Amino acid sequence: MKITAIRTHILHHDLDQPFQSSFSVFRARRHCLVEIETDTGLTGWGECLGPADINAAVVASMAPLAIGANPLDIEIIWLTLYNQFRDQGQRGVMHTALSGIDIALWDIAGKHHDAPIHQLMGGAWRKSIPAYATGGFRPEGGDHATACAADMAQYVREGFGAVKIKIGYGIESDMRAIAAVREAIGPDAELMIDANHGYDVVDAVTVGQRAAEFNVLWFEEPVVPESLGAYQQVCARQPLPVAAGETWHGRWAVAEALKQRTVHILQPDVCGIGGLSEARKILTLADIDQVRVVPHVWGTAVALAAGLHFHAILPPMPPSHEQFSPRLEFDRTHNPFRQAIVTQPIEHQNGFVAVPNGPGLGIEINRSVLESFTVS
Ligand code: NI
Ligand code: CA
Repeated sequence: MKITAIRTHILHHDLDQPFQSSFSVFRARRHCLVEIETDTGLTGWGECLGPADINAAVVASMAPLAIGANPLDIEIIWLTLYNQFRDQGQRGVMHTALSGIDIALWDIAGKHHDAPIHQLMGGAWRKSIPAYATGGFRPEGGDHATACAADMAQYVREGFGAVKIKIGYGIESDMRAIAAVREAIGPDAELMIDANHGYDVVDAVTVGQRAAEFNVLWFEEPVVPESLGAYQQVCARQPLPVAAGETWHGRWAVAEALKQRTVHILQPDVCGIGGLSEARKILTLADIDQVRVVPHVWGTAVALAAGLHFHAILPPMPPSHEQFSPRLEFDRTHNPFRQAIVTQPIEHQNGFVAVPNGPGLGIEINRSVLESFTVS
């Protein structure tokens, strides 16, 4: 079998109601998918986290180096591409682009062997993943606490046992939102807060100390990811477990972050870290340092499917009857193509999402829907 083509598809939808993270404004949903074709007719799909157009350009630059290769030589293709791009690409878009290619190769391998990816990777510890609803961004021109509390209460009514809100809009505003959401979801639902690195150490410590009374499961990306020393200080000086890692790409970045004891919960994203191949290697690093892994997920059903196979193979931790359970990040913000591009939407049932069991990623792309959202 030989790779004959590597294509990208940029999907786009303008948002009627833009929303803000601590530092950015989402005016549209725009995601980059990777499609790899072979001379046997088997096709694989992958997805790249982050800016779609730059990802597509890097995938296009990598493609000539992989065309003609056996798509089952996943490790060889990965390292060949990495070796060619490492001088300018030790972090960031080189890894996110490579992630999309790697996931598509695993999809082809699964279809070739007629097995789901988690089976090829050694087997699923779990077939159904408890999901948490991600949302709670600040609507542009709206009140964060009010919008957030209403949305989170709705997610809990839909069956989610856990929700994550965005913070990083100022300490007092954030505390109002956290209090309103805890009041709205009741005492039992799990609540996580994500600052999208919108704080410095001084304010992050204050937020963590004050948020603790609202029973917060983790404090995500309190400070900028480049500053490992800032993470150490946030860990040491406030009581909430600290989570991060969605922008620590590749084994070297993660190894350094773990060595410096920066987080209690590591959040690799298979569409960013270098694909399923690199994500699996990261599990070994996390095991050595006994750091919890709760993957980051953001994108279409392709990213969700890849994330679910990764969740399935997470080893039990701690190795006891009462394990910490991973939770699947389940984005609830508006995105009409997220599920529409697959023939079988990946939905939750009472807050749980089944791991796909078909060959490869276990999804089938609906080409006419895909094309209806595709921009050149
Ligand atoms: Ni819309
Ligand atoms: Ca996040």
